[in-house]
Amino acid sequence: MKVICTEKSQILATNLARALKTSVVDVKYSRFPDGEQYLITGELDDETIIVGSVVDNDSLVQLILLIDACDSSDNQLVLPYMGYARQDKRFLQGEPVSARAVAQVLSRGVLEIITVNIHEKEVLKYFGVPARNISLARDIGSYIKSLHLSNPLILAPDEGALTFAEHVASAGGWDVDHLEKTRLSGVEVKMAPKQICAASRSVVIVDDIISTGGTIATASGMLYQQGAKEVFAACVHGVLTGGAYVHLMTAGIRDVVCSDTIERGCSKISAAGRIAQTIKNADSHDTKNE
Ligand code: R5P
Repeated sequence: MKVICTEKSQILATNLARALKTSVVDVKYSRFPDGEQYLITGELDDETIIVGSVVDNDSLVQLILLIDACDSSDNQLVLPYMGYARQDKRFLQGEPVSARAVAQVLSRGVLEIITVNIHEKEVLKYFGVPARNISLARDIGSYIKSLHLSNPLILAPDEGALTFAEHVASAGGWDVDHLEKTRLSGVEVKMAPKQICAASRSVVIVDDIISTGGTIATASGMLYQQGAKEVFAACVHGVLTGGAYVHLMTAGIRDVVCSDTIERGCSKISAAGRIAQTIKNADSHDTKNE
């Protein structure tokens, strides 16, 4: 078994290979003069773990090409971050179900798929092969533990993220609560007023994705108004679009951390161990609800 990856998942794939005690296949990536992508892989094994986050259109195309290049082996696809998963249904007539379109394309040429904290578990049914979702909630919990905060409150920005927050909090037996978020647009959210036991406490807001940072910035404003001592933010997928990291730091967040499902400077939590464990233990339970 060997691991192979797209350009956007090099560090995670290398750590995964280490955890699986195997090697990473060297791949050369380049472009044709017209901008089309090209790649050529080193020597493959009979079994290949293909690792590639879909963080933009280029990484999607590169992943499709990589899967095709591996057509001589039995492939398992690790999709650490699946872009387009948030358009998981047709909200308006005429729209695509983008998650379904991407899932179908990526199922061709692989035997099984592992996703990490997929935005909506219903998306798993769109893959044409068996797909399992794993959660990094407990890994985020372990990271928070390493901060040695005194009696922190773990906060989900909306009820949908509460189960995830509960699993994070179980790492330290911490208190959990949630806010009531309404999304007004892609960049704007509204929080219903809610009294939280935040006064003089360290609060860690946890979510699956930080995209524009609007959710966390709005929530932290509410928490500081209620006397929170300090606010941290932790997520699985640090999309961090439009200057979100700086936006959050200037909004008074003490620290923003994410995992390496999207490789960032603030990727202080690795998904490699949990993915390796899932691959080694093919019967491990699906933690899509965490
Ligand atoms: C939405 O349902 C997700 O769980 C996140 O809350 C959302 O993607 C965060 O987006 P933003 O950072 O743009 O507020």
